[in-house]
Amino acid sequence: MNKENIALVIGGTGSIGSAIINELKNQKFTNIISLGRSSNPPLDLLDEFSIKKAADFIKNQPGSLCLLFDATGILHSEDQNQMPEKTYKNIDLTFMKKNFEINVMGPALIMKHFLPLLDTDQKSIFATLSAKVGSISDNRYGGWYSYRASKAALNQMIKTASIELKMKNKNAICVAIHPGTVTSKLSQPFQKDNLKIQSNVESAKNIMQVMTNLKMNDSGLFFDWSGDIINW
Ligand SMILES: NC(=O)c1ccc[n+]([C@@H]2O[C@H](COP(=O)([O-])OP(=O)(O)OC[C@H]3O[C@@H](n4cnc5c(N)ncnc54)[C@H](OP(=O)(O)O)[C@@H]3O)[C@@H](O)[C@H]2O)c1
Repeated sequence: MNKENIALVIGGTGSIGSAIINELKNQKFTNIISLGRSSNPPLDLLDEFSIKKAADFIKNQPGSLCLLFDATGILHSEDQNQMPEKTYKNIDLTFMKKNFEINVMGPALIMKHFLPLLDTDQKSIFATLSAKVGSISDNRYGGWYSYRASKAALNQMIKTASIELKMKNKNAICVAIHPGTVTSKLSQPFQKDNLKIQSNVESAKNIMQVMTNLKMNDSGLFFDWSGDIINW
């Protein structure tokens, strides 16, 4: 019998993450697992031990990890009642730290504990949801200091990990994906009529298409939901 193909979504409780889980049901995966703060075992990006325990849990599942999809992230902070900064005068250390902890350090720890589990015998993928506003070359409007900078740092993590993965796992592809503007708790305060807004289902279908089409030499790149490459 063929071995089990595991697809793991971290942040499967979110708008895009939950839609990705639904899309995965139409794919080759035999075991679809969602982990996050409310799963069993729980995975909290602010707690490395929980990330390690979650990786041990995946290691003990039958089969191998073919897809690792990170759908976590923050843009504004409800507990601190803070919105992205419109000006450098609004820069706040606590809010900036939170952006970096969730959007950069959390995914970095996911890489540390989960990338060694990616299947080495067949194509395996690590994809993380970044954001086009993290592109330095595309920055035309300014603002959103913490979020932009955290996503730019996340992009650098992806590029760096792709270089290491080329040496350690020739079948692994590592990419950053911009999902488009998608209806969610995260984007709700910023949705404008003039923006193209996708439903989470639409975006997940598009992202799945991008992942299906990924080739080995796409590793280390930044794609948008339509499959176009975004310059760093
Ligand atoms: N929506 C958009 O328009 C848009 C545009 C560009 C980029 N993105 C990116 O897409 C990603 C997903 O966004 P979304 O719109 O789907 O947001 P969302 O619905 O708010 O989902 C965010 C997810 O992050 C998880 N999360 C937050 N803090 C966490 C922590 N400490 N530990 C573990 N998980 C944590 C949440 O888990 P809980 O359920 O436990 O809170 C939830 O699953 C983000 O990286 C975002 O930057 C979104």
